[in-house]
Amino acid sequence: MLDDITRVGEDFDTELEGASDVKALDELRVKYFGRKGGLIPALFGRLKEVPKEQKKDVGDALNKLRDRLEESLKEKSERIAADEARRKESREHVDITLPGRRPRLGSLHPITLVRLRMEEVFREMGYSIDPGPEIESDWYNFEALNFTPDHPARDTQDTFFLDANAKEGTPLLLRTHTSNVQIRTMEKFKPPVKVLSCGRVYRRDEITMRRSPMFHQAEALLVDKGIHIGHMRATIEHFIRRIFGEEAQIRLRPSFFPFTEPSAEVDMSCFFCKGKGCGTCSQTGWMEILGCGMVHPQVLRNVGIDPEEWSGFAFGMGIDRVAMLKYDIPNIRTLFENDLRVLQQF
Ligand code: DAH
Repeated sequence: MLDDITRVGEDFDTELEGASDVKALDELRVKYFGRKGGLIPALFGRLKEVPKEQKKDVGDALNKLRDRLEESLKEKSERIAADEARRKESREHVDITLPGRRPRLGSLHPITLVRLRMEEVFREMGYSIDPGPEIESDWYNFEALNFTPDHPARDTQDTFFLDANAKEGTPLLLRTHTSNVQIRTMEKFKPPVKVLSCGRVYRRDEITMRRSPMFHQAEALLVDKGIHIGHMRATIEHFIRRIFGEEAQIRLRPSFFPFTEPSAEVDMSCFFCKGKGCGTCSQTGWMEILGCGMVHPQVLRNVGIDPEEWSGFAFGMGIDRVAMLKYDIPNIRTLFENDLRVLQQF
């Protein structure tokens, strides 16, 4: 019996050594102290078979074994709990010396940056801002602007016509320029008027390096008493210098637009070579930047304004082209692909 007690003690020590978690420890506790079939209770059960004269020694040994085993189980389970707590703490530990993660912020698209800048320059000059509608009727996009019925821009080859209204013979269309806002403004407000309109325009063009079927224009219109071409030139020069820098020069070349008379094309001294001549300006030192003119008397009459009393000027330009120049973007597609690697640079 004493040998059995020693053996159980030794077995226990080996098994305790191998128990490394709470579950193994529980199993060990059941094996040795379980009420049904536990090894220790079983040994106590055999005490009554022990001869009287040995009973005290065996009983003492058994009590000692039970106390030692209980003590060992308690110790080990405390150690495992402490280890677990330490591991958990290190998992949740916050290192406040680590650098923070920068939140991802958006940025403005280059076209938006240019548009906002243009609007700012014109607002300073007292212009109101009105983007106008992109879906337009023939009247606002062509007729009231003095386009002849057979003008090539009115062709389905050049303009996107919509099915809406097609039955009545005057289909709606996607505006081909922002000049529609000239008519809308003069119909709505009595002169004097000053308005800047920036927005999308559409033409049936193939996509190339410099062309896209959708692009952006900015259009300025001023109508007042005694307005002449000198006012127009000064306004354009001021605007160009605010956008491209004070050293920018402009020159006017005669041109034709149905809604202005006289009309002109404006060149700006090359943004890259400052007029010396380079590859971008084909060695001319100039780059074409906008169209302009004095509002045609017929256009004024079309909106009920007396051309004997009022006169005005208008000019229009591509916003995308300005963005491409300012930010040195050679391909217009870059502006519409929305590649974050590009957009994040602005
Ligand atoms: N609408 C013209 C275009 O899309 C640009 C333009 C030319 C606008 C002359 C004007 C202007 O206001 O006076 O090509």
